[in-house]
Amino acid sequence: EVTKEFTANLPKAELHLHIEGTLEPELKLKLAQRNHIDIGQSTIEEVQKTYDYDDLASFLAVYYPAMNVLQKEEDFYELAFAYLKRAAANNVRHVEIFFDPQAHTSRGIAFETVINGLYRAVVDARALNVDAALIMCFLRDFSKESARKTLLEALPYKDKFIGIGLDSDEHNNPPLKFARQYEDAAAEGLHLTAHCDIDQKDSIEHIRQALEIMGVERLDHGTNIVEDPDLVQFAAKNQIGLTSCPLSNGFVSPEMKGKEILELLAQDVKVSLHSDDPAYFGGYIGDNYYQLADQFALTKEQVVQLAKNSFETSWISQEKKDIYL
Ligand code: HPA
Ligand code: ZN
Repeated sequence: EVTKEFTANLPKAELHLHIEGTLEPELKLKLAQRNHIDIGQSTIEEVQKTYDYDDLASFLAVYYPAMNVLQKEEDFYELAFAYLKRAAANNVRHVEIFFDPQAHTSRGIAFETVINGLYRAVVDARALNVDAALIMCFLRDFSKESARKTLLEALPYKDKFIGIGLDSDEHNNPPLKFARQYEDAAAEGLHLTAHCDIDQKDSIEHIRQALEIMGVERLDHGTNIVEDPDLVQFAAKNQIGLTSCPLSNGFVSPEMKGKEILELLAQDVKVSLHSDDPAYFGGYIGDNYYQLADQFALTKEQVVQLAKNSFETSWISQEKKDIYL
């Protein structure tokens, strides 16, 4: 039987974590006060009442406005370091952190303010025994021109992030919209991943574009791939990582997609478990492991395999991977 203690103690790699999604109500209120930003709520209970969503769009409508409390480099540092302390407590040994520069530059915050604050926390995480790195995401509901500008703005900071991703509202925003940015990022030696959110209008077509045309190494979510046996075979053969987020799934669909996750495991796809936006979806990575294991009666072997997959599909050196595999 898989206990809470077992999932808590298991060494894990966190590969699907939006740093903006770790903004807990306490810190949100503290930063609002410090930066003199009126967010419309003044108690934790009031903030929690706004956490009312049942699909991706209604979630994003709560998620983006809250980021306004992040103004100064120190705010980004504080957000990321607070998360990294939680990661250490969840036995996360390696974390690849998504950040959304356009969610900040679009409201007048300089790119360097964002990345310098986050990167300083990444460096300081070494003292917590957590190996951390950054992945820059493009907002797919912004234009490809905006993505281009963001990539060009980011390249001088290339030593501070290891890859690119794609997030925000997927509806009518296919991966191919960003083909040029992905090609250029790959040529710069950056790693590639992209969200293919669950149960989208064009899930299979988006997964196909990301895998077959854009050459991503991982799919974030991506569990709808089970509907297409050829793509499942492609993912297994090419060791594509699928970063599934059970608690997040449970918010935007009737269930956590446990059946799909188990089916992918059985077909040797490198699926793994993560937390997405833990401050908004009710739990960090240990909770995601435990709740899925509990509700879908996972064996210890299955849970260990999910954790191994997280290290195997991470972007750390083989030398470091060997420690965990
Ligand atoms: N999907 C799309 N955009 C997001 C997500 C997600 O799961 N989390 C934060 N931004
Ligand atoms: Zn996500």
